[in-house]
Amino acid sequence: MSDASLLDVDGVCGGYGGEQVLQGVAFNMKPGEIVAIIGRNGVGKSTLMRTLTGLLAPSAGSIRFNGVDMTREPANVRALRGIGYIPQGRDVFPDLTVRENLLVGEVAGQGREPPDYDTIYRFFPILKERERQRAGTLSGGQQQQLAIARAMIGHPSLMLLDEPSEGIQPSIIKDISRNVRELNAQTGVAVLLVEQNLDLIVSMAQRGYVMEKGRIVASLGPDEIRSREAVRAYLTI
Ligand SMILES: Nc1ncnc2c1ncn2[C@@H]1O[C@H](COP(=O)(O)OP(=O)(O)O)[C@@H](O)[C@H]1O
Ligand SMILES: [Mg+2]
Repeated sequence: MSDASLLDVDGVCGGYGGEQVLQGVAFNMKPGEIVAIIGRNGVGKSTLMRTLTGLLAPSAGSIRFNGVDMTREPANVRALRGIGYIPQGRDVFPDLTVRENLLVGEVAGQGREPPDYDTIYRFFPILKERERQRAGTLSGGQQQQLAIARAMIGHPSLMLLDEPSEGIQPSIIKDISRNVRELNAQTGVAVLLVEQNLDLIVSMAQRGYVMEKGRIVASLGPDEIRSREAVRAYLTI
């Protein structure tokens, strides 16, 4: 089954009401891969993520996950199938405690696997320390850890990670990259990373795609995605 696809996106169009943002997006992922979609502000990266989660309905095209066509499935069903989502800007619940935020994430794992707090707290010890603290009092980097942990507590097989570097100090960006790579290596979770931050792309991704005006316009292999020069060139097109 090593050739089986995890995610197959084909000809996906969509956006907001009359405004078509995605213009036929096509790409694929295999289980356990870390794939980046890179592109500048406004090219449609977050719109693509919302369309993959089911928060936005595509007007054309198909999305298959583990061979199942889930193009028309609502977001809660996709989450139960094993798609975890870490939105741009993190969106932790500021007035809930760290523990309560994680509790919300448990829903996605229901009926599949029980929550595993030991593993999550081993990856993110600060969350254990701050368990009873309101999430709004955490630093940006800690909130990013919480958002990732909230997705991971539901045992996803695919993590959709939307611009985790946004508003995060450069020193912390390295930690996020390491954390996600370790989660990937130890749990086998695949990661679709959407980014425009050079450091994060180069340090995290195994291969990638370039997005421009709602389309995938290039594919980057393992060597290219690790080359600062190559990635920088695509980000400044
Ligand atoms: N909620 C929204 N309603 C209407 N248009 C939106 C909304 N969010 C984004 N857009 C538009 O969709 C396009 C792509 O935005 P987005 O997907 O956020 O790009 P990126 O994540 O690559 O920066 C932009 O033109 C943006 O103005
Ligand atoms: Mg975005």
